[in-house]
Amino acid sequence: MAEEQGTALAFDDVRLKTGYSEVMPDKVDLTTRFSRNVPLKIPIVSAAMDTVTEYTLAIELAKLGGIGVIHRGLSPEEQAFHVSRVKHHLNGLIKKPICVYEDEIVSEVLKKREEKKYQFHSFPVLTRQEVLVGIVTGNDFDFCYDTSVPIGKIMTTNPLTAHEGTTLEEAYKLMLEGKKKVIPLADNSKKVVGLYTFSDVKRIMFGNAETYNIDSEGRLRVAAAIGVGGDTLKRVRLLVEEKVDVVVIDTAHGDTESAIRTLKEIKSNYPNLDVVVGNVSVGESALRLAQAGADGIKVGQGPGSICTTRVVAGIGRPQLSAIYSCAKALKDYDIPICADGGLRYSGDMTIAIAGGAHCLMMGSMLAGTDEAPGEIVSFQGRPWKNYRGMGSLGAMQASKAARERYGQENRSPDKVVPEGIEGSVPYKGKLADVIFQYVGGLKQGMGYVGAKTIEELREKGDFDLITPAGVKESHPHDIRGIKDAPNYKVEEA
Ligand code: XMP
Repeated sequence: MAEEQGTALAFDDVRLKTGYSEVMPDKVDLTTRFSRNVPLKIPIVSAAMDTVTEYTLAIELAKLGGIGVIHRGLSPEEQAFHVSRVKHHLNGLIKKPICVYEDEIVSEVLKKREEKKYQFHSFPVLTRQEVLVGIVTGNDFDFCYDTSVPIGKIMTTNPLTAHEGTTLEEAYKLMLEGKKKVIPLADNSKKVVGLYTFSDVKRIMFGNAETYNIDSEGRLRVAAAIGVGGDTLKRVRLLVEEKVDVVVIDTAHGDTESAIRTLKEIKSNYPNLDVVVGNVSVGESALRLAQAGADGIKVGQGPGSICTTRVVAGIGRPQLSAIYSCAKALKDYDIPICADGGLRYSGDMTIAIAGGAHCLMMGSMLAGTDEAPGEIVSFQGRPWKNYRGMGSLGAMQASKAARERYGQENRSPDKVVPEGIEGSVPYKGKLADVIFQYVGGLKQGMGYVGAKTIEELREKGDFDLITPAGVKESHPHDIRGIKDAPNYKVEEA
């Protein structure tokens, strides 16, 4: 029997009060964390959904300072491949470069390059005793008219090399002087111990590297979703081999025996791997996961744009109260909270953080970008992109992982009870432009509150509860023919 009920609030039920401010929006610091050891430069995390996060979006989002969570509707091998594409996108120092042997046949190397979908064309060449003797580049392959010869015939001998421990800046200088696009690092016995490539080094040194969310070895950060089922440990092993930064136990109900058991198993096998667990919406649940060893907690049960859990199962909690309840329960723990789902405008981001979140997971707000999977479709003269819940009929029929997320892995695909829907979202163009607006709105909000940092916003944010009349007043009103603005479209109202 229920106890006396309090009132649970959604983002629309409140607006933030302004406070005395010396904070210019452009000067705020948005650094925060996704999990205990995984920092973010902006508080944005992309949802682990098959219409949101594969490697293309994860790469762009990490370059903008956030992190993408590769969805788990992929086989363990495919998901690991997506992680590896992100980790290899920006190679600072490649610690274990792919090498070829001098006696390998050119056509076989080309075949391997094709099969493994390598995005690079240069390889250090070794003897069978693993001694560096040359290098083959894209040019060597392009100008090779007889591919039945061994690599030793087309390689450049005496390649430019650098010693172990060479820094990015030193490598850049050496490559400029030697006019070389790759430089292997070799130890005293001529064993290859690393490799720098010119395009990556240049991109890190002169690109927007200050916005990039990169690990200690200069690689973009990426997360991956996992379940609690049979192949989980295999999945984690493959992800760890590809240097995933954090795994996310991604279930509709995170406060369960199976989620806690999986968390403990992973932490005992990989003590240095951060594990975020979700989803929960009650402080008590967040506390239980924290005490079981979670490095981050994901909050949100039913707020998502595509969710029907609230109406199908009668379950969930309006998202602002869910965030507040979990943040309050974890106030003495050093564990970040990720608010997952239900965000519609940049103003909701400010409210979610003021309510206690450290970072924000988005599905519908990112699904319409160029970088999200799927084509642009035209409907009633406007461009859209498909977006579906991982608990929708389509996603559940397509993937066992999606059925498992909702505890229905043992059901046949035609006997599932969906907890989500399929639809589309307005096409939004480039992720960078979209994130610019989201981050811009958040920064404006921080200026109004007088919060210089995410932590200050969490501390200082104070709300007014508003009525339906207040909600109506919040949106544009009494205007006809409203033109689309980059951060506000009428059909979204
Ligand atoms: P938004 O509002 O950002 O929400 O589109 C994305 C989040 O919604 C969750 N999710 C679902 N929840 N049924 C649900 O009840 C579903 O089919 C579903 N698919 C995704 C998920 O937490 C995601 O990050």
